[in-house]
Amino acid sequence: MLVDRYGRVATDLRVSLTDRCNLRCTYCMPEEGLAWLPRQDVLTDDEVVRLVRIGVERLGVREVRFTGGEPLLRRGLVDIVAACARLEPRPELSLTTNAVGLARVAGALAEAGLDRVNGSLDTLRADRFEALTHRRRLDDVLAGLVAASAAGLDPVKINAVLMRGVNDDEAPELLAWALEHGYELRFIEQMPLDAQHGWDRATMVTAEEILASLRSVFDLTPIGDVERGSAPAETWLVGGGPARVGVIASVTRPFCGACDRTRITAEGQVRNCLFARDESDLRGAMRSGADDAELARRWEVAMAGKAAGHGIDDPGFLQPSRPMSAIGG
Ligand code: GTP
Ligand code: 5AD
Ligand code: SF4
Repeated sequence: MLVDRYGRVATDLRVSLTDRCNLRCTYCMPEEGLAWLPRQDVLTDDEVVRLVRIGVERLGVREVRFTGGEPLLRRGLVDIVAACARLEPRPELSLTTNAVGLARVAGALAEAGLDRVNGSLDTLRADRFEALTHRRRLDDVLAGLVAASAAGLDPVKINAVLMRGVNDDEAPELLAWALEHGYELRFIEQMPLDAQHGWDRATMVTAEEILASLRSVFDLTPIGDVERGSAPAETWLVGGGPARVGVIASVTRPFCGACDRTRITAEGQVRNCLFARDESDLRGAMRSGADDAELARRWEVAMAGKAAGHGIDDPGFLQPSRPMSAIGG
């Protein structure tokens, strides 16, 4: 079991499959990209599946989410999903993607056993999309999301980050669009995880502002804490339901006390928190011949040391040295 000294149990594994991405969201990485990991440092497909198996068989992992960078850039993704779907007890399998390449593979992923998809989309306007991502791929994203729904990868959830003076006037429009398509939209407060270290609390669009903007158009009713469990998103029923909208307020309403997440980076390092200061090297151990029991033990030790929270508000807060794209979102 992956338990920390505050009694939190990690059952939700987030696996980053690559640090690369085909978009360049301004709040994530610079236009020229980053120094990508050398290929030999990235886990092989077999190594990924082995760690997921150890998590599921020995450590109580019940949900596995594949992230990146952009996980659709990983050539072995469909095979990795298929292998994880054969594990016992079968974990729930999901994917967090920018949806650019999703139209082509949604069907194959569903067939391989993927249960659902979260797609990222911050704007519906082509000019803003290009300014925000440095790529002209809005139509591909929209087609990818439609394909995910058509393939039964439900519920399709959409993550949107609002930035002041960029797209913060678009919240009601995004929600109307999501309702029309049957997607569950969640707005995310921007976190200090960008490669450029440009995050500024003073300009961050807060959950309160997002809700005020939505309430100017929609009637919202909170669903309450019991149903929320350890999910990052707080959820509201829109117009009395059943449609929903969420806000992931990592900064102004942190949810670390209920955290059930453990992470493996593309390089095979355990991170016990998005904001962790250190990592535990399972890849090195694996490549030096450690058996499953030893890898499980190291993973448990790494999780035991998880901090109480992200500490963004602490006076000495230091942003993690790795950006979100190298950790897995
Ligand atoms: P489901 O609601 O189960 O679909 O998953 P999710 O919301 O955890 O998944 P997703 O990958 O879509 O995450 C959305 C965003 O939530 C991430 O991009 C992060 O911004 C935020 N998030 C997820 N996990 C954590 C976490 O452990 N800590 C913090 N601070 N933010 C998180
Ligand atoms: N703060 C908040 N969310 C972020 N994402 C990427 N970088 C940040 C950040 N600094 C979001 C993406 C995507 C999800 C995986 O994480 O928009 O939806
Ligand atoms: Fe969990 Fe760390 Fe995220 Fe807090 S910041 S919710 S502890 S991963």
